[in-house]
Amino acid sequence: MTAIRYDDDDLYLPAQAERGARRHRKPRPNPHDRQASRAVLTEAVDPIELEGGFVTTYRPSRHEWGWLLQSLEDFYNRGLLSDVLAIIKGGKEANVYRCRAHPDTGLGLVAAKVYRPHSLRQMRNDQVYRQGREILTPNGRPVGKEAERMAHAIQKKTAYGREAAHTSWLMHEFTTLQTLYGSGGAVPYPVAAGPNALLMSYLGDEKLPAPSLHEVAIESDEAGPLFDEVLRNIELMLSHGIVHADLSAYNILYWEGEITLIDFPQVVDAAANRQAYDILERDIARVCGYFARHAPRDAARRGDWRDPRGLTGRLWRRYIGQTPLERDVSEARLYREDEI
Ligand SMILES: Nc1ncnc2c1ncn2[C@@H]1O[C@H](COP(=O)(O)OP(=O)(O)OP(=O)(O)O)[C@@H](O)[C@H]1O
Ligand SMILES: [Mg+2]
Repeated sequence: MTAIRYDDDDLYLPAQAERGARRHRKPRPNPHDRQASRAVLTEAVDPIELEGGFVTTYRPSRHEWGWLLQSLEDFYNRGLLSDVLAIIKGGKEANVYRCRAHPDTGLGLVAAKVYRPHSLRQMRNDQVYRQGREILTPNGRPVGKEAERMAHAIQKKTAYGREAAHTSWLMHEFTTLQTLYGSGGAVPYPVAAGPNALLMSYLGDEKLPAPSLHEVAIESDEAGPLFDEVLRNIELMLSHGIVHADLSAYNILYWEGEITLIDFPQVVDAAANRQAYDILERDIARVCGYFARHAPRDAARRGDWRDPRGLTGRLWRRYIGQTPLERDVSEARLYREDEI
């Protein structure tokens, strides 16, 4: 089996992931002061009114203004959203905002993930993930008759193709949240999706969003149960035939002792994507690496943390079938038998 090649520095193989993680390791905050280092980037007090009567407490910057309004207005018009309170994080692909849901929804605070316009988006090499995936339309369903034309446009990166790829990327995140949430996964509740944004339940409180596992120092007695919960979610995804494909301590939120997995646009189809096995191994290696580093005493007892490769093989066989290596071997054997 050939190794995956990535031409993007946020994509690398498990062995490199370990090295990278060591290099970038930051001092851990005091566990009793977990929230102290969390900074909310901008927060304003006086609500301002945007076009169309949409009131926001958060003051968007000039270049963010139109994009934010356009992306969230539909949620406001549908009676889902009443205020944008603060930006939680500006990521590579999207900004996430803490918002107040409309009181009629009973949802309280919600998180709005607003995808950047293509021009401002740091494109990752998403072809690796798209391979074997259906193109999803704004209603979350696969494209029908138009599929071939759309796939061609996406490949050629025409304006129409970029738009279709953008929508499909976002809808994969939304429909994955729906699937996992509906089957008991530890993921945010997906409230609604629009062409450029999705609304989901918010982890955190009025002041601070939940930190990611990467930002907290977990207690040693929590490590085992938290790892098992991450593993339960990896298995749940595999039982639906999918792999997260960007799983790490950065995409696992920690709030009130519990974890929640986030950030799903790049999920891959385990059966259809030729690199899915390696991608799963990378996810598992990053998670195991985090727990082995942060709970070294438990690591001595947890053989699975020290053997992500073995764990990947076992999970793959349980949920998907033969590993690529086993498949290659049995195909080679068949081939030889044919020759005799
Ligand atoms: N439901 C939520 N509740 C609270 N905070 C959230 C929620 N969803 C996302 N966040 C915050 O927003 C950040 C970015 O979200 P996400 O990882 O989905 O987007 P991204 O653009 O892929 O970001 P990155 O490039 O940093 O991975 C998360 O790291 C987390 O801090
Ligand atoms: Mg992320």
